[in-house]
Amino acid sequence: MKFEIKPQSKIMVALDVDELDQARVILDQIDGTGVTIKVGNQLATYAGWEKVARLVKERGLRFFADTKFKDIPNTVGKSARSITRYQPEFFNIMIDNNQAAIQASIEGREQSLADYHITNRPIILGVTVLTSISDRESQEIYGGSLDQKVLQFASLAAKVGLDGVVCSAKEAQMLRSNQDTEGLLLVTPGIRPDWASHNDQVRSLTPTEALSFGVDYLVIGRPITSPPAKIGGIRKALELILEEVV
Ligand code: C5P
Repeated sequence: MKFEIKPQSKIMVALDVDELDQARVILDQIDGTGVTIKVGNQLATYAGWEKVARLVKERGLRFFADTKFKDIPNTVGKSARSITRYQPEFFNIMIDNNQAAIQASIEGREQSLADYHITNRPIILGVTVLTSISDRESQEIYGGSLDQKVLQFASLAAKVGLDGVVCSAKEAQMLRSNQDTEGLLLVTPGIRPDWASHNDQVRSLTPTEALSFGVDYLVIGRPITSPPAKIGGIRKALELILEEVV
């Protein structure tokens, strides 16, 4: 069952920096907007998840731990249990893995809720096939086309009870129109407002286009964290995007 998502929390700002001090500078300008902050291994591997979680949460922002766990089921489960202790709103696992590993992530989360008396249940997202992987590479690695494999992995995740997936907007349309996957939350990177540079994103969509494809959450990094000079800063860039989304 889908729940209503507040417009501001549909924006997931990718905080792709090396140091906590750099993160602080960005977050201080985003403070109070109610957006979600996606922090990945670039920052957390060095700074540690505890400090990262505190930094985001003390500003009243929603916290997405982009953990991308992929391992044997026991380790995925234990990792899910550990990250849940920091009470992120979201964390993720790779779902090009077996059913037991996906199941273990859910069990690890539930175990953590019970063991540490946590009431906020993190949403677990499954990363299907990374959008950096081409159709030809999907054939080589997985033995099937991108669409086939994304649908296969997402269907398994939905069957096991995962909350949502990270995918490209093109795949979002396919997943939204398939009865096995239509109920999943869809989270999509590669979003570029009209006014932003495309950087290295080759198949980017505007926030409005992505939402029209049935996407629930938009991951946006550099257009917000290093906007073009004409936009006038991080806060202004975020406000322009929020105007487009709300
Ligand atoms: O700066 P930009 O908006 O391109 O950042 C996009 C974010 O989404 C980055 O954190 C990147 O790692 C992530 N991402 C992506 N493509 C994927 C998966 C994640 O761009 N397929």
